[in-house]
Amino acid sequence: MAENRRRDGIPHLVLVPCPLQGHLSPMLHLAGIFHSKGFAVTLVLVQPASPRVVTSWVSDDFFLESLGGSGSDIPDVCEMDLMCFLNEVNSKCKLPFRDCLTRLRMNRLKGHKLCIVYDAIMYFSAEVSNELEIPRVVLRTSTAANFLGLSMLKQKACLPTQDGSAKAIRELIPAMRESDMPVFDKFCPETTERVLAQIHESTSTASAIIWNTLQALERTPLHRIQSSLSPPIFPIGPLHKYQAQDPRRCRRRSLFTADTGARREEDRIKCMSFLDSHTPGSVVYVSAGSLARLSRSELAEMAGGLADCGQPFLWAVGPSLEHGDDVAGLVPSGLELSRAAGCHHPRAPSMQGLAVAWAPQEEVLAHGSVGCFWTHNGWNSTLESMTEGVPMLCWPRVGDQKIIAGFVTRVWRVGLELECDGDGGLERGRISRSIKRVMVGEEGREIKKRASEMKETVELALSGGGCSSQFLGKLVDFIQLL
Ligand code: UDX
Repeated sequence: MAENRRRDGIPHLVLVPCPLQGHLSPMLHLAGIFHSKGFAVTLVLVQPASPRVVTSWVSDDFFLESLGGSGSDIPDVCEMDLMCFLNEVNSKCKLPFRDCLTRLRMNRLKGHKLCIVYDAIMYFSAEVSNELEIPRVVLRTSTAANFLGLSMLKQKACLPTQDGSAKAIRELIPAMRESDMPVFDKFCPETTERVLAQIHESTSTASAIIWNTLQALERTPLHRIQSSLSPPIFPIGPLHKYQAQDPRRCRRRSLFTADTGARREEDRIKCMSFLDSHTPGSVVYVSAGSLARLSRSELAEMAGGLADCGQPFLWAVGPSLEHGDDVAGLVPSGLELSRAAGCHHPRAPSMQGLAVAWAPQEEVLAHGSVGCFWTHNGWNSTLESMTEGVPMLCWPRVGDQKIIAGFVTRVWRVGLELECDGDGGLERGRISRSIKRVMVGEEGREIKKRASEMKETVELALSGGGCSSQFLGKLVDFIQLL
Protein backbone atom coordinates (compact mmCIF):
# COMPACT_ATOMS: atom_id res chain seq x y z
CA MET A 1 0.00 0.00 0.00
CA ALA A 2 2.96 2.32 0.62
CA GLU A 3 3.29 2.99 -3.10
CA ASN A 4 -0.21 4.51 -3.04
CA ARG A 5 1.28 7.56 -1.39
CA ARG A 6 3.06 8.36 -4.60
CA ARG A 7 0.25 7.30 -6.92
CA ASP A 8 -1.58 10.09 -8.66
CA GLY A 9 -5.17 10.61 -7.68
CA ILE A 10 -4.90 9.53 -4.03
CA PRO A 11 -5.64 12.58 -1.88
CA HIS A 12 -2.97 13.99 0.35
CA LEU A 13 -4.60 14.28 3.78
CA VAL A 14 -4.37 17.55 5.69
CA LEU A 15 -5.29 16.85 9.31
CA VAL A 16 -6.38 19.59 11.69
CA PRO A 17 -6.41 18.56 15.38
CA CYS A 18 -7.65 20.68 18.28
CA PRO A 19 -4.92 21.61 20.78
CA LEU A 20 -6.66 20.00 23.79
CA GLN A 21 -5.35 16.63 24.97
CA GLY A 22 -8.73 14.86 24.78
CA HIS A 23 -9.07 15.97 21.14
CA LEU A 24 -5.43 15.97 20.07
CA SER A 25 -4.86 12.31 20.99
CA PRO A 26 -7.57 10.78 18.76
CA MET A 27 -6.53 12.91 15.77
CA LEU A 28 -2.89 11.91 16.20
CA HIS A 29 -3.91 8.27 16.37
CA LEU A 30 -5.95 8.80 13.22
CA ALA A 31 -2.93 10.37 11.51
CA GLY A 32 -0.92 7.25 12.31
CA ILE A 33 -3.69 4.99 10.99
CA PHE A 34 -4.00 6.89 7.70
CA HIS A 35 -0.24 6.89 7.29
CA SER A 36 -0.10 3.13 7.86
CA LYS A 37 -2.81 2.75 5.20
CA GLY A 38 -0.61 4.43 2.62
CA PHE A 39 -1.78 8.04 2.69
CA ALA A 40 0.62 10.95 2.76
CA VAL A 41 -0.31 13.20 5.68
CA THR A 42 0.25 16.81 6.66
CA LEU A 43 -0.62 17.56 10.26
CA VAL A 44 -1.52 21.21 10.83
CA LEU A 45 -0.89 22.26 14.42
CA VAL A 46 -2.30 25.57 15.61
CA GLN A 47 0.72 26.04 17.84
CA PRO A 48 4.40 25.67 16.91
CA ALA A 49 5.76 22.14 17.23
CA SER A 50 8.83 21.59 19.39
CA PRO A 51 11.98 20.29 17.60
CA ARG A 52 11.56 17.01 19.45
CA VAL A 53 8.08 16.59 17.97
CA VAL A 54 9.30 17.40 14.50
CA THR A 55 12.07 14.81 14.62
CA SER A 56 9.72 12.11 15.90
CA TRP A 57 7.09 12.63 13.24
CA VAL A 58 8.36 14.08 10.03
CA SER A 59 9.27 11.73 7.19
CA ASP A 60 9.09 11.87 3.40
CA ASP A 61 5.34 11.34 3.50
CA PHE A 62 4.46 12.78 6.90
CA PHE A 63 4.72 16.54 7.33
CA LEU A 64 4.02 19.08 10.07
CA GLU A 65 2.78 22.62 9.55
CA SER A 66 2.16 25.17 12.26
CA LEU A 67 -0.29 28.06 12.12
CA GLY A 68 1.10 30.05 15.04
CA GLY A 69 4.39 31.89 14.74
CA SER A 70 5.04 32.13 18.44
CA GLY A 71 1.99 30.33 19.76
CA SER A 72 1.22 33.32 21.96
CA ASP A 73 -1.92 34.06 19.96
CA ILE A 74 -3.66 30.92 21.15
CA PRO A 75 -5.28 31.52 24.54
CA ASP A 76 -4.61 29.26 27.53
CA VAL A 77 -7.67 27.08 28.06
CA CYS A 78 -7.01 26.95 31.80
CA GLU A 79 -7.49 30.69 31.97
CA MET A 80 -10.90 30.87 30.35
CA ASP A 81 -14.33 29.39 29.65
CA LEU A 82 -13.91 26.40 27.30
CA MET A 83 -16.53 27.67 24.84
CA CYS A 84 -14.87 31.10 24.68
CA PHE A 85 -11.56 29.31 24.09
CA LEU A 86 -13.05 27.41 21.14
CA ASN A 87 -14.65 30.55 19.78
CA GLU A 88 -11.31 32.34 19.90
CA VAL A 89 -9.26 29.48 18.42
CA ASN A 90 -11.68 29.22 15.51
CA SER A 91 -11.70 32.90 14.74
CA LYS A 92 -7.90 33.24 15.09
CA CYS A 93 -7.00 30.20 12.98
CA LYS A 94 -9.17 30.73 9.93
CA LEU A 95 -6.95 33.16 8.01
CA PRO A 96 -3.63 31.49 8.87
CA PHE A 97 -5.09 28.14 7.78
CA ARG A 98 -6.25 29.55 4.46
CA ASP A 99 -2.80 31.07 3.91
CA CYS A 100 -1.14 27.79 4.87
CA LEU A 101 -3.22 25.77 2.40
CA THR A 102 -2.73 28.31 -0.36
CA ARG A 103 1.04 28.20 0.18
CA LEU A 104 1.10 24.40 0.25
CA ARG A 105 -0.89 24.21 -2.97
CA MET A 106 1.55 26.55 -4.68
CA ASN A 107 4.61 24.65 -3.45
CA ARG A 108 4.92 21.23 -1.85
CA LEU A 109 1.43 19.98 -2.68
CA LYS A 110 1.21 21.57 -6.12
CA GLY A 111 -0.93 19.40 -8.39
CA HIS A 112 -1.94 17.03 -5.55
CA LYS A 113 -5.52 16.21 -4.72
CA LEU A 114 -6.22 17.22 -1.13
CA CYS A 115 -8.67 16.18 1.55
CA ILE A 116 -9.00 18.01 4.86
CA VAL A 117 -9.69 15.89 7.93
CA TYR A 118 -10.58 18.08 10.90
CA ASP A 119 -11.83 17.80 14.44
CA ALA A 120 -15.48 18.90 14.45
CA ILE A 121 -14.69 21.59 17.01
CA MET A 122 -12.12 23.15 14.63
CA TYR A 123 -14.95 24.35 12.39
CA PHE A 124 -12.81 27.08 10.82
CA SER A 125 -11.36 24.23 8.72
CA ALA A 126 -14.79 23.60 7.20
CA GLU A 127 -15.19 27.26 6.27
CA VAL A 128 -11.76 27.35 4.61
CA SER A 129 -12.24 24.09 2.74
CA ASN A 130 -15.57 25.40 1.40
CA GLU A 131 -13.87 28.58 0.17
CA LEU A 132 -11.02 26.67 -1.45
CA GLU A 133 -13.30 23.88 -2.71
CA ILE A 134 -11.34 21.10 -1.03
CA PRO A 135 -13.29 18.02 0.14
CA ARG A 136 -13.45 17.60 3.87
CA VAL A 137 -14.04 14.76 6.30
CA VAL A 138 -14.83 15.44 9.95
CA LEU A 139 -13.66 13.56 13.05
CA ARG A 140 -16.04 13.30 16.00
CA THR A 141 -14.10 12.55 19.17
CA SER A 142 -16.99 11.81 21.52
CA THR A 143 -19.93 9.40 21.43
CA ALA A 144 -22.75 9.22 18.91
CA ALA A 145 -25.23 9.44 21.80
CA ASN A 146 -23.69 12.75 22.84
CA PHE A 147 -24.17 14.11 19.32
CA LEU A 148 -27.77 12.97 19.43
CA GLY A 149 -28.27 14.68 22.79
CA LEU A 150 -26.77 17.89 21.38
CA SER A 151 -28.87 17.70 18.19
CA MET A 152 -32.00 17.36 20.23
CA LEU A 153 -31.06 20.33 22.36
CA LYS A 154 -30.47 22.28 19.17
CA GLN A 155 -33.77 21.32 17.53
CA LYS A 156 -35.58 22.46 20.61
CA ALA A 157 -33.63 25.72 20.56
CA CYS A 158 -33.08 25.33 24.26
CA LEU A 159 -29.32 25.30 24.44
CA PRO A 160 -27.67 25.07 26.86
CA THR A 161 -30.48 23.87 29.11
CA GLN A 162 -31.56 20.27 29.18
CA ASP A 163 -35.37 20.52 29.11
CA GLY A 164 -37.20 17.94 27.10
CA SER A 165 -34.29 16.40 25.23
CA ALA A 166 -34.04 13.39 27.53
CA LYS A 167 -37.52 12.27 26.55
CA ALA A 168 -36.46 11.94 22.92
CA ILE A 169 -33.27 10.11 23.84
CA ARG A 170 -35.23 7.80 26.14
CA GLU A 171 -37.41 6.73 23.25
CA LEU A 172 -34.24 5.30 21.73
CA ILE A 173 -32.40 4.24 24.86
CA PRO A 174 -34.84 3.68 27.72
CA ALA A 175 -32.10 3.58 30.39
CA MET A 176 -31.25 7.26 29.86
CA ARG A 177 -32.34 9.94 32.34
CA GLU A 178 -32.97 13.67 32.15
CA SER A 179 -29.81 14.21 34.22
CA ASP A 180 -27.69 12.34 31.63
CA MET A 181 -28.09 15.00 28.96
CA PRO A 182 -25.04 17.00 27.80
CA VAL A 183 -24.40 19.85 30.24
CA PHE A 184 -22.99 23.27 29.40
CA ASP A 185 -24.25 25.30 32.34
CA LYS A 186 -20.73 26.31 33.41
CA PHE A 187 -20.11 28.20 30.15
CA CYS A 188 -21.28 31.51 28.67
CA PRO A 189 -24.74 30.65 27.19
CA GLU A 190 -24.54 32.87 24.06
CA THR A 191 -21.06 31.67 23.09
CA THR A 192 -22.01 28.06 23.84
CA GLU A 193 -25.04 28.24 21.59
CA ARG A 194 -23.02 29.79 18.75
CA VAL A 195 -20.11 27.36 19.06
CA LEU A 196 -22.32 24.26 19.29
CA ALA A 197 -24.32 25.38 16.26
CA GLN A 198 -21.10 25.79 14.23
CA ILE A 199 -19.83 22.39 15.35
CA HIS A 200 -23.10 20.81 14.31
CA GLU A 201 -23.00 22.56 10.94
CA SER A 202 -19.37 21.54 10.33
CA THR A 203 -20.38 17.92 11.00
CA SER A 204 -23.59 17.67 9.04
CA THR A 205 -22.12 19.23 5.88
CA ALA A 206 -18.89 17.20 5.65
CA SER A 207 -18.30 14.61 2.92
CA ALA A 208 -18.04 11.92 5.59
CA ILE A 209 -17.96 11.55 9.37
CA ILE A 210 -15.30 9.52 11.14
CA TRP A 211 -16.41 8.56 14.62
CA ASN A 212 -14.14 7.43 17.45
CA THR A 213 -16.78 4.99 18.62
CA LEU A 214 -17.82 1.42 17.83
CA GLN A 215 -20.94 0.22 16.11
CA ALA A 216 -20.91 -2.70 18.56
CA LEU A 217 -21.46 -0.19 21.39
CA GLU A 218 -23.62 2.48 19.78
CA ARG A 219 -25.64 0.79 17.06
CA THR A 220 -28.91 2.59 17.92
CA PRO A 221 -27.60 6.18 18.18
CA LEU A 222 -25.45 5.71 15.07
CA HIS A 223 -28.37 4.34 13.11
CA ARG A 224 -30.57 7.23 14.21
CA ILE A 225 -27.93 9.80 13.21
CA GLN A 226 -27.26 8.15 9.86
CA SER A 227 -30.96 8.24 9.07
CA SER A 228 -31.03 12.02 9.54
CA LEU A 229 -27.63 13.09 8.13
CA SER A 230 -26.48 12.54 4.56
CA PRO A 231 -22.67 12.14 5.01
CA PRO A 232 -21.73 8.48 5.45
CA ILE A 233 -20.61 7.63 8.98
CA PHE A 234 -17.53 5.52 9.71
CA PRO A 235 -17.39 4.40 13.35
CA ILE A 236 -13.83 3.04 13.47
CA GLY A 237 -12.92 3.40 17.16
CA PRO A 238 -11.17 2.97 19.43
CA LEU A 239 -8.51 4.87 17.50
CA HIS A 240 -5.87 4.50 20.20
CA LYS A 241 -5.82 0.73 19.86
CA TYR A 242 -4.95 0.26 16.19
CA GLN A 243 -1.25 0.84 16.38
CA ALA A 244 -0.52 -0.95 19.62
CA GLN A 245 1.78 -3.28 17.68
CA ASP A 246 3.35 -0.58 15.52
CA PRO A 247 6.97 0.13 16.56
CA ARG A 248 6.64 3.72 15.30
CA ARG A 249 3.89 4.27 17.83
CA CYS A 250 6.34 4.27 20.74
CA ARG A 251 8.35 6.96 19.01
CA ARG A 252 5.24 8.97 18.29
CA ARG A 253 3.89 8.74 21.81
CA SER A 254 6.55 11.29 22.60
CA LEU A 255 4.45 13.88 20.79
CA PHE A 256 1.99 13.82 23.66
CA THR A 257 4.68 14.27 26.22
CA ALA A 258 7.00 16.56 24.33
CA ASP A 259 6.03 19.71 26.22
CA THR A 260 7.13 18.45 29.61
CA GLY A 261 9.13 15.44 28.42
CA ALA A 262 11.60 14.76 31.24
CA ARG A 263 9.11 15.44 34.01
CA ARG A 264 6.51 13.19 32.50
CA GLU A 265 9.03 10.42 31.98
CA GLU A 266 9.85 10.65 35.68
CA ASP A 267 6.13 10.39 36.53
CA ARG A 268 5.80 7.44 34.14
CA ILE A 269 8.57 5.48 35.86
CA LYS A 270 7.05 6.17 39.28
CA CYS A 271 3.59 5.07 38.17
CA MET A 272 4.71 1.85 36.56
CA SER A 273 6.96 0.81 39.45
CA PHE A 274 4.13 1.58 41.89
CA LEU A 275 1.79 -0.67 39.87
CA ASP A 276 4.44 -3.40 39.55
CA SER A 277 4.65 -3.57 43.33
CA HIS A 278 0.95 -4.33 43.86
CA THR A 279 -1.16 -7.42 43.39
CA PRO A 280 -3.39 -7.95 40.33
CA GLY A 281 -6.66 -6.02 40.38
CA SER A 282 -5.89 -4.22 43.67
CA VAL A 283 -5.16 -0.61 42.64
CA VAL A 284 -7.69 2.20 42.19
CA TYR A 285 -6.57 4.53 39.39
CA VAL A 286 -7.96 8.07 39.68
CA SER A 287 -8.03 10.83 37.07
CA ALA A 288 -10.46 13.62 36.16
CA GLY A 289 -8.86 14.15 32.73
CA SER A 290 -6.65 16.81 31.28
CA LEU A 291 -8.81 19.89 31.89
CA ALA A 292 -10.55 19.68 35.26
CA ARG A 293 -9.37 22.05 37.99
CA LEU A 294 -10.64 20.67 41.27
CA SER A 295 -11.28 22.81 44.33
CA ARG A 296 -9.27 22.36 47.50
CA SER A 297 -12.26 20.88 49.28
CA GLU A 298 -12.84 18.38 46.45
CA LEU A 299 -9.17 17.34 46.58
CA ALA A 300 -9.37 16.95 50.35
CA GLU A 301 -12.48 14.74 50.20
CA MET A 302 -10.89 12.66 47.44
CA ALA A 303 -7.71 12.15 49.46
CA GLY A 304 -9.77 11.22 52.52
CA GLY A 305 -11.98 8.76 50.63
CA LEU A 306 -8.98 7.12 48.99
CA ALA A 307 -7.20 6.78 52.34
CA ASP A 308 -10.29 5.28 53.98
CA CYS A 309 -11.10 2.73 51.28
CA GLY A 310 -8.07 0.67 52.20
CA GLN A 311 -7.09 -0.07 48.61
CA PRO A 312 -3.81 1.08 47.05
CA PHE A 313 -4.36 3.97 44.66
CA LEU A 314 -2.63 5.82 41.87
CA TRP A 315 -3.91 9.37 41.51
CA ALA A 316 -3.18 11.48 38.42
CA VAL A 317 -4.13 14.81 39.92
CA GLY A 318 -3.85 16.74 36.66
CA PRO A 319 -4.05 20.51 36.21
CA SER A 320 -5.06 21.11 39.84
CA LEU A 321 -1.64 19.94 40.96
CA GLU A 322 0.31 21.41 38.08
CA HIS A 323 -1.00 24.83 38.93
CA GLY A 324 0.35 24.81 42.44
CA ASP A 325 -2.22 23.11 44.68
CA ASP A 326 -0.40 21.10 47.30
CA VAL A 327 -2.10 17.74 47.53
CA ALA A 328 0.26 16.43 50.18
CA GLY A 329 -1.06 19.13 52.51
CA LEU A 330 -4.57 17.75 52.11
CA VAL A 331 -3.75 14.15 52.84
CA PRO A 332 -4.86 12.77 56.19
CA SER A 333 -2.04 11.97 58.58
CA GLY A 334 -0.88 8.38 58.46
CA LEU A 335 -1.26 8.16 54.70
CA GLU A 336 2.01 8.06 52.90
CA LEU A 337 1.69 9.82 49.61
CA SER A 338 4.28 10.59 47.03
CA ARG A 339 3.57 13.93 45.44
CA ALA A 340 4.16 15.25 41.94
CA ALA A 341 7.32 14.71 39.97
CA GLY A 342 10.41 16.10 41.55
CA CYS A 343 9.48 14.90 45.04
CA HIS A 344 10.31 11.56 46.63
CA HIS A 345 10.40 8.25 44.90
CA PRO A 346 7.72 5.77 45.89
CA ARG A 347 8.79 3.35 48.58
CA ALA A 348 6.21 0.84 47.48
CA PRO A 349 4.84 -1.59 48.45
CA SER A 350 4.52 -0.06 51.94
CA MET A 351 2.90 3.04 50.45
CA GLN A 352 -0.86 3.06 49.97
CA GLY A 353 -1.03 5.89 47.47
CA LEU A 354 0.94 7.60 44.76
CA ALA A 355 -0.13 11.01 43.44
CA VAL A 356 1.42 12.40 40.28
CA ALA A 357 0.65 15.38 38.08
CA TRP A 358 0.31 13.16 35.01
CA ALA A 359 0.12 9.39 34.46
CA PRO A 360 0.73 7.39 31.26
CA GLN A 361 -2.96 6.48 31.32
CA GLU A 362 -3.14 3.98 28.47
CA GLU A 363 -0.23 2.03 29.99
CA VAL A 364 -1.66 2.32 33.48
CA LEU A 365 -5.05 0.95 32.46
CA ALA A 366 -3.38 -1.94 30.63
CA HIS A 367 -1.47 -2.91 33.82
CA GLY A 368 -2.88 -5.96 35.59
CA SER A 369 -2.70 -4.30 39.02
CA VAL A 370 -5.43 -1.78 38.21
CA GLY A 371 -8.82 -2.97 39.48
CA CYS A 372 -10.92 0.16 39.08
CA PHE A 373 -10.78 3.54 37.32
CA TRP A 374 -12.39 6.45 39.15
CA THR A 375 -13.00 8.66 36.14
CA HIS A 376 -14.78 11.84 35.00
CA ASN A 377 -15.90 9.86 31.91
CA GLY A 378 -14.23 11.92 29.25
CA TRP A 379 -14.71 9.77 26.16
CA ASN A 380 -11.01 8.95 25.72
CA SER A 381 -10.69 7.82 29.33
CA THR A 382 -13.87 5.77 29.08
CA LEU A 383 -12.80 4.07 25.84
CA GLU A 384 -9.31 3.40 27.21
CA SER A 385 -10.84 1.80 30.31
CA MET A 386 -13.30 -0.35 28.36
CA THR A 387 -10.58 -1.42 25.95
CA GLU A 388 -8.62 -2.84 28.88
CA GLY A 389 -11.64 -4.31 30.70
CA VAL A 390 -11.25 -2.04 33.74
CA PRO A 391 -14.45 -1.37 35.76
CA MET A 392 -15.25 2.31 36.28
CA LEU A 393 -16.38 4.48 39.15
CA CYS A 394 -18.11 7.34 37.37
CA TRP A 395 -17.89 10.99 38.40
CA PRO A 396 -19.09 12.97 35.35
CA ARG A 397 -18.98 16.75 35.52
CA VAL A 398 -19.60 18.69 32.28
CA GLY A 399 -20.25 18.42 28.53
CA ASP A 400 -20.50 14.86 27.24
CA GLN A 401 -19.42 13.23 30.49
CA LYS A 402 -22.89 12.68 31.98
CA ILE A 403 -24.33 10.95 28.94
CA ILE A 404 -21.20 8.77 28.71
CA ALA A 405 -21.51 7.89 32.41
CA GLY A 406 -25.19 7.04 31.83
CA PHE A 407 -24.16 4.50 29.19
CA VAL A 408 -21.35 3.10 31.34
CA THR A 409 -23.54 2.55 34.38
CA ARG A 410 -26.96 1.67 32.88
CA VAL A 411 -26.48 0.50 29.29
CA TRP A 412 -23.11 -1.25 29.17
CA ARG A 413 -23.12 -1.73 32.97
CA VAL A 414 -19.34 -1.76 33.31
CA GLY A 415 -19.23 0.79 36.10
CA LEU A 416 -21.02 2.39 39.04
CA GLU A 417 -21.95 5.97 39.78
CA LEU A 418 -19.89 7.58 42.54
CA GLU A 419 -22.13 8.35 45.51
CA CYS A 420 -22.23 12.09 46.18
CA ASP A 421 -23.94 14.15 48.89
CA GLY A 422 -27.38 15.71 48.38
CA ASP A 423 -25.91 18.70 46.49
CA GLY A 424 -23.77 16.52 44.21
CA GLY A 425 -20.61 17.28 46.22
CA LEU A 426 -17.84 14.88 47.19
CA GLU A 427 -17.79 13.34 50.65
CA ARG A 428 -15.03 11.01 51.84
CA GLY A 429 -17.31 8.41 53.46
CA ARG A 430 -19.38 8.04 50.30
CA ILE A 431 -16.23 7.88 48.16
CA SER A 432 -14.75 5.12 50.24
CA ARG A 433 -18.05 3.19 50.15
CA SER A 434 -18.33 3.57 46.37
CA ILE A 435 -14.78 2.29 45.82
CA LYS A 436 -15.45 -0.76 47.98
CA ARG A 437 -18.63 -1.51 46.00
CA VAL A 438 -16.59 -1.70 42.79
CA MET A 439 -13.53 -3.42 44.23
CA VAL A 440 -15.05 -6.06 46.51
CA GLY A 441 -18.23 -8.09 46.79
CA GLU A 442 -20.74 -9.60 44.41
CA GLU A 443 -21.76 -6.36 42.68
CA GLY A 444 -18.11 -5.59 41.91
CA ARG A 445 -17.53 -9.11 40.59
CA GLU A 446 -20.49 -8.77 38.20
CA ILE A 447 -19.17 -5.45 36.92
CA LYS A 448 -15.69 -6.90 36.48
CA LYS A 449 -17.15 -9.80 34.48
CA ARG A 450 -19.01 -7.43 32.15
CA ALA A 451 -15.93 -5.23 31.83
CA SER A 452 -13.90 -8.27 30.73
CA GLU A 453 -16.59 -9.10 28.16
CA MET A 454 -16.44 -5.49 27.00
CA LYS A 455 -12.71 -5.87 26.40
CA GLU A 456 -13.46 -8.86 24.18
CA THR A 457 -16.15 -6.89 22.32
CA VAL A 458 -13.62 -4.17 21.54
CA GLU A 459 -10.97 -6.68 20.46
CA LEU A 460 -13.49 -8.34 18.17
CA ALA A 461 -14.45 -4.98 16.61
CA LEU A 462 -10.81 -4.35 15.75
CA SER A 463 -10.11 -7.86 14.44
CA GLY A 464 -10.20 -8.70 10.71
CA GLY A 465 -13.97 -9.13 10.27
CA GLY A 466 -14.93 -6.81 13.17
CA CYS A 467 -17.16 -3.76 12.73
CA SER A 468 -14.51 -1.06 13.30
CA SER A 469 -11.98 -2.76 11.07
CA GLN A 470 -14.54 -3.17 8.28
CA PHE A 471 -15.57 0.48 8.54
CA LEU A 472 -11.92 1.48 8.35
CA GLY A 473 -11.54 -0.45 5.09
CA LYS A 474 -14.61 1.32 3.68
CA LEU A 475 -13.32 4.70 4.87
CA VAL A 476 -9.99 4.20 3.10
CA ASP A 477 -11.83 3.29 -0.13
CA PHE A 478 -14.14 6.28 0.28
CA ILE A 479 -11.32 8.79 0.76
CA GLN A 480 -9.30 7.40 -2.12
CA LEU A 481 -12.21 8.25 -4.41
CA LEU A 482 -12.80 11.78 -3.13
C1 UDX B 1 -12.21 16.60 27.09
C2 UDX B 1 -13.60 16.46 27.73
O1 UDX B 1 -13.55 16.74 29.10
C3 UDX B 1 -14.15 15.11 27.46
O2 UDX B 1 -15.41 14.98 28.09
C4 UDX B 1 -14.30 14.93 25.97
O3 UDX B 1 -14.84 13.65 25.71
C5 UDX B 1 -12.94 15.11 25.32
O4 UDX B 1 -12.37 16.35 25.69
P1 UDX B 1 -10.58 15.38 28.92
O5 UDX B 1 -11.37 15.97 30.02
O6 UDX B 1 -9.16 15.67 28.92
O7 UDX B 1 -11.21 15.71 27.49
O8 UDX B 1 -10.85 13.79 29.05
P2 UDX B 1 -10.59 12.56 28.11
O9 UDX B 1 -11.47 12.54 26.92
O10 UDX B 1 -10.72 11.39 28.98
O11 UDX B 1 -9.10 12.71 27.59
C6 UDX B 1 -7.99 12.75 28.41
C7 UDX B 1 -6.83 12.08 27.70
O12 UDX B 1 -5.64 12.45 28.36
C8 UDX B 1 -6.92 10.57 27.71
O13 UDX B 1 -6.51 10.05 26.45
C9 UDX B 1 -5.92 10.15 28.77
O14 UDX B 1 -5.29 8.91 28.50
C10 UDX B 1 -4.91 11.29 28.74
N1 UDX B 1 -4.34 11.50 30.08
C11 UDX B 1 -4.99 12.24 31.02
C12 UDX B 1 -3.14 10.91 30.38
O15 UDX B 1 -2.55 10.22 29.54
N2 UDX B 1 -2.62 11.11 31.62
C13 UDX B 1 -3.22 11.83 32.58
O16 UDX B 1 -2.68 11.95 33.68
C14 UDX B 1 -4.46 12.43 32.27
